[in-house]
Amino acid sequence: MRAFSIAAAGLLASATSAQASQYLVRNFCPFNVYLSFANTTKTETDELLPPGTAFLGSIVGQGNSVGVTNQMGQYWSATGWKAIFGTSAVDGTLWWSLSDLVGDPIAPRTFNVTSSGTRDDVCGHTTDYMSGVHNCPDDGTTLTYNLCSANS
Ligand SMILES: *[C@@H]1O[C@H](CO)[C@@H](O)[C@H](O)[C@H]1NC(C)=O
Ligand SMILES: *[C@@H]1O[C@H](CO)[C@@H](O)[C@H](O)[C@H]1NC(C)=O
Repeated sequence: MRAFSIAAAGLLASATSAQASQYLVRNFCPFNVYLSFANTTKTETDELLPPGTAFLGSIVGQGNSVGVTNQMGQYWSATGWKAIFGTSAVDGTLWWSLSDLVGDPIAPRTFNVTSSGTRDDVCGHTTDYMSGVHNCPDDGTTLTYNLCSANS
């Protein structure tokens, strides 16, 4: 179990002064979600993220993804509803995107992705799955993915 309380994860995220960018997934939903991780060499599935908890990870290398589902075993299922948060850090540039596949795992609730670092919104933000690929300098940026954001 690597989930932290949302309050603790926020403190951890803001305490980081290193240059490496990171992502924070915060579960404000009143239900469990599950995170599945993949990069070019490894996959890890079904990390439980209970309501009120967050997961903090660093963004290293390219082709990283964090999948969000509302039931276990859905990420690798062809019929599983999933959101896919993709990140890469390549040659000093940070890239990210968010999309869904099959269905939205937290519908009808809403979400947002925000970014902060050298300035607020340094790497863009979104409240939908179709905002495309965002990029910015890879310079201590924190991407925060809020599940069931405030006005849902
Ligand atoms: C893939 O992720 C694993 C941890 O899940 C990490 O140890 C490994 O270095 C990563 N590989 C690449 C190429 O980023
Ligand atoms: C994103 O969601 C968080 C958590 O509900 C909220 O505090 C924040 O104001 C939202 N930000 C934007 C830009 O919608």
